[in-house]
Amino acid sequence: MGDLRVSVLSLFKNYKSFDSKSLELCGWIRTVRDLKDVAFAELNDGSCLMNLQLVAARDVLDNFHDFVKMGVGSAVRVKGDLLLTGKKGQPFELKVSCFFVEGDSTGDYPLQKKRHSLEFLRTIAHLRARTNTYSAIFRVRSAASFAIHDFFNKEGFVYVHTPVLTGSDCEGAGEMFTVTTLNLAGFPATSEGSASGFSKDFFGKHASLTVSGQLEAECLAMALGKVYTFGPTFRAEKSYTGRHAAEFWMIEPEMAFANLSDNIVVAERMLKYVVNSVLEKCYDDLAFLEKFYEKGLVKRLKDLVSMNFEILSYTEAIGLLKKSDFDFVYKPEWGIDLQTEHERYLTESVLKKPVFVVNYPKGIKSFYMKLNDDGETVAAMDLLVPGVGEIIGGSERESNYDALIKRMDELGLKKEEYWWYLDLRKYGSATHSGYGLGFERLIMYLTGISNIRDVLPFPRTTGNLEF
Ligand code: 4AD
Ligand code: MG
Repeated sequence: MGDLRVSVLSLFKNYKSFDSKSLELCGWIRTVRDLKDVAFAELNDGSCLMNLQLVAARDVLDNFHDFVKMGVGSAVRVKGDLLLTGKKGQPFELKVSCFFVEGDSTGDYPLQKKRHSLEFLRTIAHLRARTNTYSAIFRVRSAASFAIHDFFNKEGFVYVHTPVLTGSDCEGAGEMFTVTTLNLAGFPATSEGSASGFSKDFFGKHASLTVSGQLEAECLAMALGKVYTFGPTFRAEKSYTGRHAAEFWMIEPEMAFANLSDNIVVAERMLKYVVNSVLEKCYDDLAFLEKFYEKGLVKRLKDLVSMNFEILSYTEAIGLLKKSDFDFVYKPEWGIDLQTEHERYLTESVLKKPVFVVNYPKGIKSFYMKLNDDGETVAAMDLLVPGVGEIIGGSERESNYDALIKRMDELGLKKEEYWWYLDLRKYGSATHSGYGLGFERLIMYLTGISNIRDVLPFPRTTGNLEF
């Protein structure tokens, strides 16, 4: 055929090199305008925000009729010569010589020209990636994933895969989805969920979807030194906020011979690396999102890279909250878990920058966190960022066998279920630390999009499993 198959992005990057060349492109039609002897269409192929303008002439194109009759949303394959126009907004267009509609689109295609609300677009998740907003968000998701792998790879971390099916509750909060092959319809109500009931199940015991790969990552860090996971995690918490999903992705680095301060340093460096990389790779997408969703987004991201994050103890944070005359729904008192309203107040109104809150009361954090010398607080760290609140949760881990046993007893955890985790403290235990970065929270931070349902391609939230 001799035609060069290119993406719209590659044209925008370097259109001069394609001057007068015969090209082939594929994509979906955004608009068609019929001016009798000539017709125009806008083609988008998902590679970037920009559309390619197609120009068809009645006396050149055999099937000119197909061109003007195709519906918005049609999938097309097109060939033609690239013509430089010299115009600023539209520096080139494609003079169509050959045109084929692979799949026409019917007149009820929901994405016609008008701007739709994100709420409406959520109801058509199978089509919404064809809008500028969602295609921009999903390209940012891709660039951010890549940047995360790039960062950890450069820092010498080993990428490990921890299981999705698990027999233990990492966070000890009981917010797990059960996985079973039992026929629950015929299951006697009395034995449902009981240990004896699950002994007949696939694994011979109760199985769940993981809430975090941390415990397994700790095993691997005790062999490989520095590891990280990047995978889906599941939480069965009934939550209707814009920040919680039942299925979300988490990045979990785990480092042997690293304490809480080392953990903080890596987290800050990682976030800056990802922000820098996304600014570089997705500038147009971010500029678009800034225009429609958050004024000053690009500057906010650029500023982040050059600022030092704040570090605040939980006790200091409570002090600042108590001093404030803001009318919190949950009154700040030492010992309470920080709510989103507190987190956002601290990072947005008081400090106006990302802040690590460290050393939380042991009563509100998970069993595996290292107990501090005060006997009251644990070496935890949460990173709070403006616009989102908590984006990272992590800690130094309890590496002392006896201290861990004591804590598990206090919390009534079944030690026999964690025998392998306890073994790590018997055989060459080392100071170690790690954290979990909520990937969707990161994407919300990067895009200025305020609802987690809009940064997941197919969100799963309480009461919502449409696709
Ligand atoms: O703070 P979390 O619960 O920490 C852990 O799971 C640790 N085991 C991580 C570790 O140390 N390896 O969760 C970590 C992050 C949160 O800061 C938040 O960004 C995100 O995961 N997250 C959620 N994101 C979306 N929907 C939910 N339901 C989330 N729950 C937590
Ligand atoms: Mg947390």
